[in-house]
Amino acid sequence: MKNIISIRDLSKTDILKILNRAEKMQEVLQKKNAEEIYPDKILGALFFEPSTRTKLSFKAAMKRLGGRVIGISDVKKSSVAKGESFGDTIKVIAKYVDIVAMRHPLEGSARYASELVDIPIINGGDGANQHPTQTLLDLYAIKKFEGGIEEKEIALIGDLRHARTMRSLAYALSKFGAKIKLVSPKSLKMSREVVKEIKEKYSPEFEEITDLKKGIKGSDAIYVCRIQEERFKDPYEAKKLQETYQISLDLLEKYGKSDLSVLHPLPKLNEIGPKVDGSDYAKYYEQASFGIPVRMAIIDLLLGGRK
Ligand code: NCD
Repeated sequence: MKNIISIRDLSKTDILKILNRAEKMQEVLQKKNAEEIYPDKILGALFFEPSTRTKLSFKAAMKRLGGRVIGISDVKKSSVAKGESFGDTIKVIAKYVDIVAMRHPLEGSARYASELVDIPIINGGDGANQHPTQTLLDLYAIKKFEGGIEEKEIALIGDLRHARTMRSLAYALSKFGAKIKLVSPKSLKMSREVVKEIKEKYSPEFEEITDLKKGIKGSDAIYVCRIQEERFKDPYEAKKLQETYQISLDLLEKYGKSDLSVLHPLPKLNEIGPKVDGSDYAKYYEQASFGIPVRMAIIDLLLGGRK
């Protein structure tokens, strides 16, 4: 494994290798001896789009491995603001660091970067396209909370059209043979191209529905995301949709299995009712904590593979 660009590039075996290594990283974290692993390595964190969890957990993961971090998070303070091309930026930064974690609004930007430089590139989100490291931590969470991924019934609920988290996760779940329900308003259905590719390649058990209740009923886990307002041409349209798709505690109690897990990549807005946070359904905060061992495992695999 040279880079992590798209979940489509990873086989089930690759994914399991990362998840198993993340388990080991959790043990290493408890023993507190992880910082001896990469004392001489530097991670470049290049975030050309807003990020909290992905950026900070990559930085924390590198530091937990004993490495150091440099980066760009305010584009206005970098030479990009002077008009420097992304290609030039990445070619030079690749001479300063050993590995890059990046986020960029343009679809395909991480793949492009990986073609320009020799060091490992990790895609922390490229526009509406892919967010493979989020998916890896989502799979890790599903395994932990549900005891496995295969055969589980999982509903992806929300803005399936624009959310890269949903797109990546749909590919991954189909590779594992999970039962997938795609739940969204009609105007936010997952791209036809993606659906077609997933069906042709993996023939998953697959349902596309608009009714929230049906999405919740019978599911082992539901994975919810916010309406991705920044990718709408008309912000009013996004606001309108935000009001129609909300998961309340009431809805979960009425239609959900008693041990249903509610997952979310975060940030969440009002798509999850405030009472859900304190309930046993809410697994999203613990899910977010898995960002550290999973990203440690990814860095370790990419750097270790080069020794
Ligand atoms: C997601 C993203 O950036 O795609 N956030 C994350 O990385 N945890 C989800 C989102 O912004 O809705």
